Amino acid sequence: MLIDKIKSKYAKIGIIGLGYVGLPIAVSFAEKGFRVTGFDVAKDKVAQLKRGESYIGDVPGERLLPVEASGHFRASTDFSALAAQDVIIIAVPTPLNQTRDPDLTAVRAATGQVARYLQKGQLIILESTTYPGTTEEVLQPVLEAGGLKVGQDFHLGFSPERIDPGSNNSKGWRFENTPKVVGGVTPACLEVAAALYSRVIEKVVPVSSARVAEMSKLFENVFRVVNVALVNEMSLLCDRMGINVWEVLDAAGTKPYGFMKFTPGPGVGGHCIPVDPFYLTWKAREFEFNTRFIELAGEINLQMPYFVRELTMRALNSHRKSLNGAKVLLLGVAYKKDVADLRESPAIKIVELLQQDGAEITYSDPHVPEFNLATEFIAGIQFHTDMSSLKSVELTPETLAGCDCAIIVTDHTAFDYDMIVKNAPLVVDTRNALAAVRENRENIILL
Ligand SMILES: NC(=O)c1ccc[n+]([C@@H]2O[C@H](COP(=O)([O-])OP(=O)(O)OC[C@H]3O[C@@H](n4cnc5c(N)ncnc54)[C@H](O)[C@@H]3O)[C@@H](O)[C@H]2O)c1
Repeated sequence: MLIDKIKSKYAKIGIIGLGYVGLPIAVSFAEKGFRVTGFDVAKDKVAQLKRGESYIGDVPGERLLPVEASGHFRASTDFSALAAQDVIIIAVPTPLNQTRDPDLTAVRAATGQVARYLQKGQLIILESTTYPGTTEEVLQPVLEAGGLKVGQDFHLGFSPERIDPGSNNSKGWRFENTPKVVGGVTPACLEVAAALYSRVIEKVVPVSSARVAEMSKLFENVFRVVNVALVNEMSLLCDRMGINVWEVLDAAGTKPYGFMKFTPGPGVGGHCIPVDPFYLTWKAREFEFNTRFIELAGEINLQMPYFVRELTMRALNSHRKSLNGAKVLLLGVAYKKDVADLRESPAIKIVELLQQDGAEITYSDPHVPEFNLATEFIAGIQFHTDMSSLKSVELTPETLAGCDCAIIVTDHTAFDYDMIVKNAPLVVDTRNALAAVRENRENIILL
């Protein structure tokens, strides 16, 4: 029985997709004593992992090497080994396509591989974020096409991932102590899936169906995007009214109940927040329903890079300079603090807008040595400028003094903020990263 194998940790686990989500899951199961095989189509990633090198910050070499050395984790591009797994977890990308509709190409491809090697008794779990109904409407028919029946011959479920790259560890939230929602296509599927996660996670939250689990993840992300939009709108209004929005938020944040603090910024980025809510918007249309909060939030958040341009113009104006011809240094281009991820980063739009207005842009980001925009980062967005030439500079007093204006787009911990303010003629701070800086504040333009 699979449940017994899971309880004794003899169950072999296959993870399809070794990215920000899949690799940490794979290593976490391996650290708990399971035998894990990670599958990926990216040959270079698999080769890197085989050399004991990690490309994911949350899985440093110190975690990867021991589980590889002990034989608990190995990476592979040979999908035929799926047949030897007891459990298969799918964690492949779920982006939007050119028309901003769900692009399930990777999910379908991974499901096709699972179906090809499907064995009686296996448990298949989808972890990729997607619209309610995907597990039953997209995966189940493909998996059952060979004649095996879900709930009887194999198990199928959905369990959303809550990983927060770059910050989970620092806030004390790890894979093991972050509650995990699990939904099964049948009660038997749920039982096995919940048994699996409860071997490695302190609190498993079973729900009555895969659809509930799928919707719960989307709701979490919608909640975030709507609240970020609300605070972004508040920052635009506060700017108009001459009120410091950060002070307002600090004051409101002292309320011990009924309030949750979100902070404004240059726009939303990453693979999840700007993307996932539109999976729900798309599905809702099938039910003649418009997700108005999501649309409105998207509209407001899209305004933020334009507001950063306005602030930059205002800053330069105060020095009797124009954006046209100005040397602008972007500090941070990753979509959020302390990560190397450029996907959907607001920096991309900011660069485009400033370049259109004739600014000469360089950037400095300790986590992003190359501003290399592969098309997958920018699905659905047309760019009017060539950004492949964006030059990275070392952050020194000289480079700062040589620009007309610096813009803090990402508040990385590694930045020396005192040095930045001391040397840059002007600093547009979109994150309130300079809150602790006491000197030369007259050169700071705060969002
Ligand atoms: N990154 C996050 O913070 C986060 C958090 C929660 C949920 N999610 C969700 O998890 C899923 C994966 O996201 P990610 O950030 O890990 O993506 P990622 O791009 O970092 O990793 C996905 C991996 O899947 C591989 N892949 C693509 N197609 C494949 C296929 N057909 N077979 C095997 N491997 C394939 C890619 O090569 C890549 O290594 C998405 O649905 C995302 O929305 C992401």
